[in-house]
Amino acid sequence: MTPSTLDILPTPLEYSALSPEELVERIQRRKAELNAVILGHNYQRVEIQEVSDYLGDSLGLSQEAAETDADVIVFCGVHFMAETAKVLSPDKTVLMPDLRAGCPMADFVTGSALRRLKEQHPDAAVVAYVNSTAEVKALSDVCCTSSNAVQVVESIPRERPIIFVPDRNLAKYVQEQTGRDNIIAWDGYCYVHDDMVLEELDRARKAHPEAKVVVHPEARQDLLAQADFVTSTSGMVALAEEHDSLIIGTERGLVDRLNQRFPEKTFVPLSGAAICGNMKLNTLAKLAWCLDHRAYEVVLEEEVRAGAEKALRAMLDLSGGWRPATPEEEKLELAGVQPKGCGCA
Ligand code: 13P
Ligand code: SF4
Repeated sequence: MTPSTLDILPTPLEYSALSPEELVERIQRRKAELNAVILGHNYQRVEIQEVSDYLGDSLGLSQEAAETDADVIVFCGVHFMAETAKVLSPDKTVLMPDLRAGCPMADFVTGSALRRLKEQHPDAAVVAYVNSTAEVKALSDVCCTSSNAVQVVESIPRERPIIFVPDRNLAKYVQEQTGRDNIIAWDGYCYVHDDMVLEELDRARKAHPEAKVVVHPEARQDLLAQADFVTSTSGMVALAEEHDSLIIGTERGLVDRLNQRFPEKTFVPLSGAAICGNMKLNTLAKLAWCLDHRAYEVVLEEEVRAGAEKALRAMLDLSGGWRPATPEEEKLELAGVQPKGCGCA
């Protein structure tokens, strides 16, 4: 028997037997019932991107998580992103379609290891890339994302040493951009970006000599040195609006989305192998299951949450992303004149 859209099915496996249309219908209906919002990262599968209310990079998603008036946030991304939503919206229910969607880069640094490094450098400020656990954020002075890392580091007095966790490639990029020689970088990396190599870039350039090259700052320094632009995933979306052809050095999900959105343009992946298996764990079937079952819920200890909030708010303050709307802005939003969020998507 074909299950009706009204049945709640026991596991994601049963949902995967439903057609995409039926899954989308269920997702929309349950979302309205729960007053839920779906936040999707730019690396999500295209079909998840299509049902997301807000799509963006880590900075845009955290700004949206801080500002939404929904009761339930469903996060289609990886674990640290959902944790960030919970940190910034503690009274809301935050759900993830698959709890196994973690970020291996975030797992490079644990709270106890960071505590030990802080003991060795008691004067240092700690900057945590948002790709880190809430526990690590709680031990940090300020967070950063790929789009504001340089600005965040520049806000710290030049003479003060900085412990930067966990991405060594982003740390190196920031070091070069700021000319600082007092950044103590953790030795973590993202396997998706760190695996991209110059030979792949050379091949892509030969095949598309007219294309500009844009690379994510999680890539290695030798690749960044060859790029025309270095920017976050939403920065890449903005570039795609301006350019007819781009070689894109980041995860494939973003390239797929751009090709769908601009079929007349040429966007090619710098590396065909750049796929984040963790991001791809989220599927329409799991998303429909997650909404029907209100699971998996992200929970944080209050002490950790409050500590992480301080570091995240310090970043949002610097990025102009956290302040209550003025009465004038609220009026414009209600009238539908001004989009909510930072408008990255
Ligand atoms: P962005 O902040 O650029 O979206 O990057 C997040 C991420 O996980 C990159 O691998
Ligand atoms: Fe983490 Fe890399 Fe996946 Fe981004 S692409 S979520 S940094 S593993």
